[in-house]
Amino acid sequence: MTKDAMIVIEALNKHFKSGESLAQILHDINLRIDAGECVVLKGVSGSGKTTLLSIIAGMDRPSSGKVLVEGEPISKLPDLHISHFRAQKIGMIFQHFNLFEHLTAFENVMISLVPVGLKMEEVSQRVASSLKLANISHKAQSPAGRLSGGEKQRVAIARALASDPDIILCDEPTANLDRVNSLKFIEILSELHDMGKTIIVATHDPLFDALSFASRVVPIEDGSLVDDLSGDSSVGC
Ligand SMILES: Nc1ncnc2c1ncn2[C@@H]1O[C@H](COP(=O)(O)OP(=O)(O)OP(=O)(O)O)[C@@H](O)[C@H]1O
Ligand SMILES: [Mg+2]
Repeated sequence: MTKDAMIVIEALNKHFKSGESLAQILHDINLRIDAGECVVLKGVSGSGKTTLLSIIAGMDRPSSGKVLVEGEPISKLPDLHISHFRAQKIGMIFQHFNLFEHLTAFENVMISLVPVGLKMEEVSQRVASSLKLANISHKAQSPAGRLSGGEKQRVAIARALASDPDIILCDEPTANLDRVNSLKFIEILSELHDMGKTIIVATHDPLFDALSFASRVVPIEDGSLVDDLSGDSSVGC
């Protein structure tokens, strides 16, 4: 059975200006991720994982090539459209959580829904249910700055889920967690996979090497995808 492509990356290159010269960070990336897949993007520090995720999320633009999400070339959309698209379609769990430390857990999740333009009542419901899903409802009124690393991460998960996005991007989600919290995170990821979310996890944590629900590990080295990415390098089910 042919599956639907959720994310297609075509001939993507990214360089940054470094003084007078250009530093090429991503090299001719081609990748197709089907709806409902969980893909582990695995590479050492500096290999380009965050840069690639940021481009998929529409937070950065490719230097050349394109990213299509459900056939829509998001890398070519104007900024205003991209932020709307991102708010509805993509949940991002950032490498360093990116929470507002002085705002409560509830408020941190709530502000992610501002671009979606919902009524206040629905906003409150969605925030409450995503905090519950991430098992952090009991800290809803605590300022993020007073939460532990594992608690902050669960707020970051709740924020990523609040708009009920089809795509979840996780950037080094366990980098700041101990083993117990890392395993809890993997459990949540498994639930999201069961819900049919399309998931990309960028990591170099060996805990992700043999995820039962991951369809593929995609290795990235010096900004290039290492393997043939036709989708048959299954590591799990
Ligand atoms: N805005 C920028 N300007 C110049 N160079 C950048 C910029 N952003 C990233 N880089 C460089 O791109 C390379 C890849 O960075 P990136 O953050 O994507 O790596 P990573 O695989 O996520 O690493 P880590 O595992 O440490 O998070 C690095 O050499 C980094 O210095
Ligand atoms: Mg990174």
